Amino acid sequence: MSDRLFIFDTTLRDGEQVPGCQLNTVEKIQVAKQLELLGVDCIEAGFPVSSPGDFNSVIEISKAVTWPTICALTRAVEKDIDVAAEALRFAKRKRIHTGVGTSDSHINYKFRSTRDKIIEIAVAAVKYAKRYVEDVEFYAEDAGRTDNEYLARVVEAVIKAGATVVNIPDTTGYCLPTEYGEKIKYLMEHVDGIDKAVISTHCHNDLGMATANTLAGVINGARQVEVTINGIGERAGNTSLEEIVMITKCHPTLKIDTNINTQKIYPTSRMISSLMNMPVQPNKAIVGRNAFAHSSGIHQDGVLKDVSTYEIMNPKDVGIDDNSIVLTARSGRAALKYRLSVLGVTLDDEKLNEVYQEFLRLADKKKEIHDDDILVLAGADRSSNKGIKLDYLQVTTGLNIRSVASIGLRIAGELFESAATGNGPVDAAINALKNIIRREMVLREFTIQAISKGSDDMGKVHMQVEYNNHVYYGFGANTDIVSASVEAYLDCINKFQD
Ligand code: KIV
Ligand code: ZN
Repeated sequence: MSDRLFIFDTTLRDGEQVPGCQLNTVEKIQVAKQLELLGVDCIEAGFPVSSPGDFNSVIEISKAVTWPTICALTRAVEKDIDVAAEALRFAKRKRIHTGVGTSDSHINYKFRSTRDKIIEIAVAAVKYAKRYVEDVEFYAEDAGRTDNEYLARVVEAVIKAGATVVNIPDTTGYCLPTEYGEKIKYLMEHVDGIDKAVISTHCHNDLGMATANTLAGVINGARQVEVTINGIGERAGNTSLEEIVMITKCHPTLKIDTNINTQKIYPTSRMISSLMNMPVQPNKAIVGRNAFAHSSGIHQDGVLKDVSTYEIMNPKDVGIDDNSIVLTARSGRAALKYRLSVLGVTLDDEKLNEVYQEFLRLADKKKEIHDDDILVLAGADRSSNKGIKLDYLQVTTGLNIRSVASIGLRIAGELFESAATGNGPVDAAINALKNIIRREMVLREFTIQAISKGSDDMGKVHMQVEYNNHVYYGFGANTDIVSASVEAYLDCINKFQD
């Protein structure tokens, strides 16, 4: 008999804390619905007291999603808990996730408090949250660096106060897998009433050990894992959902089952990457572009003879289908709609028409349209209703000449034109743009990345522009990388708050 492992997805809370990757409410709903299709047990939808945007997103996600429990984060503060309860009012299943730091460093420096006082605060927060919801999860922030004896006292106290789930975060990603596993084992063996709550892992990846630590936690008795799609999250990120789920699937001796429909993993990964404009590293386990690409002759030979020689899982099991490159200039609207739906994107007819026109323009330039391309097209409306738009761009560039660019920008419908030179095509185009938009802005970060392969590929550009002591993040995608760069710059400008 296998044990059930609960999957708690925090892509929309801990994952969304990545600078520059914030989603709007509509995008969050799209992600939440996809997570529901994926089969996660719990969606941490936000930290409602932190901003009106988070508060609203928790409300809207609660309305949009039926099966998974919707969870809202709070500090161990009554006001936070009141606001979280209010935001969760439409959720069919709801959970409040409250907690406080328990390591000596948090107690002494962050709270200037004592161990006993922290237990009182923890117990009071759980009891207060219980007034609103039955399902209360408690987190002992920085549990990874909290000594086990004291941590056991905290866990015992919050379970007595009514916590249904107790989260043991390795907040700083410091623990070794053996250490983290022993911590969970210690709690399982020393906490009175441990059987009344589910123990949860929440591991950060600062030293690249998040997945190993989570697995060590599960092997030692944790039955919930807190994870994000593609392992996204602050700093080096969180444990990645796809890794933990596929480990349990590929290793039946662990005797662990999840509710995840693994064939939805890849489309979900693409959706998150595209909506957050966050590329997945090509060698990322399970969902990276090269995860199933055998390039060495010996491996190719082995795989052609029998896939089991070098493949421990079937790419189809994670939703990678070999027919993913199917769209060309001759593909119709229905094919595009179908491919988008496979990738988890549903568009209304009007939006589909717009994306289809963009698709035809791209297909004229590229022979094959990849999944990544159409996800960019489907998400490319992000700036379509913004104030300043690129109308045209012409650049003359080459070796041993100074690049010259002329640009037309549409601002509130009116066309503004300018020209400039630069030490390369992007510099010339941005100088021309700056002749029209005269603000004190500085380009801080600029990356160009090909989406797939081939010289006819689309280039994705990420930029950070500093203006008024604020850094703004922008994104552009185009087969012409100079145009993509200008689009990314404009995306930043369109976000300026004067
Ligand atoms: O990493 C952490 O400790 C957290 C808690 C707020 C759960 O994200
Ligand atoms: Zn965290």
